[in-house]
Amino acid sequence: MGGVRFLLNGTEVSADGCATTTLLDWLREERRLTGTKEGCNEGDCGACTVTVSHIEDGKLVHRAQNACILFLPQLHGKAVRTVEGLAGPHGAPHPVQRAMIDEHGSQCGFCTPGIVMSLYAAHRDGRRDWNDVLAGNLCRCTGYAPILRAAEVAGAAPAPDWEIDEQAALAGLASGEDLEIPGAYLPADLDRFADWYAANPDAALVGGATDVGLWVTKMLRDLPKVAFLHRLAGLRRIEILPRGLRVGAGVTLSRLRDAVEGRHPDFAELIRRYGSTQVRNAATIGGNIANGSPIGDGPPALIALGARLTLRKGAERREIPLEDFFIAYGKQDRAPGEFVESVLIPAQRDTLRCYKISKRFDQDISAICGCFNVAITDNIVTAARIAFGGMAATPKRARAVEAALIGKPWTEATVAAAAPAFAEDYQPITDMRASAAYRQRVAANLLSRLLVETCDQGPARLAKQVAS
Ligand SMILES: Cc1cc2nc3c(=O)[nH]c(=O)nc-3n(C[C@H](O)[C@H](O)[C@H](O)COP(=O)(O)OP(=O)(O)OC[C@H]3O[C@@H](n4cnc5c(N)ncnc54)[C@H](O)[C@@H]3O)c2cc1C
Ligand code: FES
Ligand code: FES
Repeated sequence: MGGVRFLLNGTEVSADGCATTTLLDWLREERRLTGTKEGCNEGDCGACTVTVSHIEDGKLVHRAQNACILFLPQLHGKAVRTVEGLAGPHGAPHPVQRAMIDEHGSQCGFCTPGIVMSLYAAHRDGRRDWNDVLAGNLCRCTGYAPILRAAEVAGAAPAPDWEIDEQAALAGLASGEDLEIPGAYLPADLDRFADWYAANPDAALVGGATDVGLWVTKMLRDLPKVAFLHRLAGLRRIEILPRGLRVGAGVTLSRLRDAVEGRHPDFAELIRRYGSTQVRNAATIGGNIANGSPIGDGPPALIALGARLTLRKGAERREIPLEDFFIAYGKQDRAPGEFVESVLIPAQRDTLRCYKISKRFDQDISAICGCFNVAITDNIVTAARIAFGGMAATPKRARAVEAALIGKPWTEATVAAAAPAFAEDYQPITDMRASAAYRQRVAANLLSRLLVETCDQGPARLAKQVAS
């Protein structure tokens, strides 16, 4: 697979292996770079964190990513740095390594390379939101206080003089040519890809591989024909249109969070709780929709916002309401050879509230994700779009609840009268995340929470409830 080329610790390399060889396996087995550790092999623990740098919106960015669910072709044209590539002349530690030593941020050391690489990526991009930076790095023995102290110290340290800017070298690797390697196609042009996929509908598409990676590492599936979508600038575009915000299917959750922060802050906050920094840096909104998961976090918020999906096959495009895409469990409205091109979030006044219920704040899949877009004028509900994940076999609107609210005063009595309608909308299942009864109860409670948070006396009433 000599066609895949990227920078490894500053040196251009050509990667051999099958198209679904993970970066982690390649680093450890082919290159003997064993500083990058294998813990869970499914994106959860961060032991395998490396930094991947690339040009985004004309700027060099540095992103922490999990090497265990990153296929080698996804690195084509990018720069990878591992923990072996941080030190300066004569082994001088990088400031983040120095800080971890000085602040006693490591005991057994197994998690340490991953933590160092997360801090390194943050250091290079000027991030200081340490809880989010480190939420995807599991440490079982040191305790996070010394690690967070190290992060603060490292964050204040200047970049060492040996740190190089990879922008020029990356420009040298840039190419607008499609690449075909055994078992995989890496298109560089959206129109060419659309034609190719229409003719090769049996190919597996890879966005960020945060699902597909697990098909390989956990389910041990062979993927004989794969198309990698990350080089398609046409899928990575975010456009501000009079109709709203059009987000390309290849936009990562990290970029989506930035894009919606000013328009729908609750959606941005929901995305902050999506996996971890490493997962959000890889996962795309197209993958999050296309996988049809009943517990994905993107679809309930997007459905509540009235999002419309553009599907494309060859040169043909069609636009549908996002909720119509999800037909049944594992079944979506997508023809062979058709792919998700973009999602449009209509321009609107922001009334969105999103509630993710999971056992942990970070890095946890939702048991229930409830998103409410309820407009209230003069204390009357004038419009309502409510969608839930985790309550049915697909992400689904609560149409009976919506009908029970519209036109009514926004009061406790209305909410109480509407709550039983959740049983009409949803018949949830019991699984390892929650029981059916719990799910029903929580859905109704979230509607009450919305009332408490949005009615005129809401904050005062909440304070009284907390006090009593
Ligand atoms: C550790 C971890 C934590 C996670 N946490 C969360 C979480 O908190 N919330 C959540 O919602 N999800 C979570 N996920 C699940 C996962 O991140 C999402 O489903 C993700 O959005 C998938 O996007 P991707 O780009 O990685 O998709 P991929 O894995 O690349 O693809 C997923 C599916 O979509 C298809 N696909 C991809 N792009 C397209 C396209 N443009 N058109 C048609 N089909 C396409 C693929 O063929 C595949 O079937 C987590 C996953 C991991 C590993
Ligand atoms: S080994 Fe756990 S996230 Fe990669
Ligand atoms: S230092 Fe042992 S797991 Fe973190």
